Amino acid sequence: MAQDTQLVGKTCFVAGASSGINLGIAKRFAAAGANVVIISRSEEKIAAAAQEVSAFGKPCIGIAADVRDYAAVEAALKRTHTEFGDIDIVLSGAAGNFVAPALGMSANGFKTVVDIDLIGTFNVLRASFEFLRRPGASLISITAGQGDRPSMFQAHVCAAKAGINMLTKCLALEWGPGGVRVNAVSPGPIADTEGMARLASTPEAEERVKSRNPMRRYGTKDEIADMCLFLSSDQAKYVNGAIIPVDGGSGCGDASGNALANYA
Ligand code: HXC
Ligand code: NAP
Repeated sequence: MAQDTQLVGKTCFVAGASSGINLGIAKRFAAAGANVVIISRSEEKIAAAAQEVSAFGKPCIGIAADVRDYAAVEAALKRTHTEFGDIDIVLSGAAGNFVAPALGMSANGFKTVVDIDLIGTFNVLRASFEFLRRPGASLISITAGQGDRPSMFQAHVCAAKAGINMLTKCLALEWGPGGVRVNAVSPGPIADTEGMARLASTPEAEERVKSRNPMRRYGTKDEIADMCLFLSSDQAKYVNGAIIPVDGGSGCGDASGNALANYA
């Protein structure tokens, strides 16, 4: 197979990339030739992830930084800029989730998820601005179906991801004139991830989720990385302010064949 050179000479910053979907995206950016910097809270996990990403391209830098800490995020972006110059792609995907009813959630439990997902995304995107290639940069947040569909036991995630969707559109309005595009990708249920391990923790629950999806399967990390690569390409240079589902159609409703499923 021909080597992918789409991102040669470009610099990518990926937040929340020590595991899962975001690590898959970082690997894809590296495989396409980019310089990649990744951050997450855990020094140990991010160092191991940086080793993995390095195997796909150039040496990847892993930095321990909590997206709730604006100064730490800003310092990581500054270091990225110092090492590699203007930043072409920023991916904000750090998130936290647990399954709990609103009444089983303390104020701090709710706030923790909103802080990581929504405030963290504001911090990453806001702090990135002065280090971006302008015009030309592509900013992508990772949202979820919970951002526009209410879900039991997910009040914190629904509120946080809905906020990310609106933030994406507001920044697209404000930063579009300067040639900075801001979009979000909304994955459906993705195989081999912490997110689905928490949301569908038994084989029965997993089968139930698959049976309701029009494609009858989980998506893959590669399928999310494909969309992020597309959004960062010239083919997407007029795509701005979009919330793009990569979910097999699960956003269209319940495809289990139960006519009442969407009304019950
Ligand atoms: C109720 C809980 C809880 C639970 C934690 N809390 N787990 N409340 N039920 N199961 C409460 C705690 O009691 C505490 O409140 C508050 O949340 C903060 O907890 P900490 O452990 O101090 O927070 P922190 O160390 O910052 O950890 C954040 C976390 C944790 C979100 C709680 O789970 C985490 O680190 N998650 C990262 C990995 C992850 O979640 N990956 C999945 C992403 S998938 P009190 O009041 O006691 O102080 C995703 C879903 C998208 O985002 C959709 C998929 C389809
Ligand atoms: P994951 O592997 O747990 O990824 C979450 C990442 O965020 C980890 O690398 C974690 O690393 C990092 N992180 C958490 N809190 C952080 C903080 N405060 N500061 C910096 N980094 C932090 O989960 P995933 O399932 O792959 O989810 C990745 C993204 O996809 C999330 O945005 C999630 O909402 C979204 N999503 C997932 C699914 C799914 O099916 N899994 C569906 C829809 C949307 P550390 O622990 O090292 O900090």
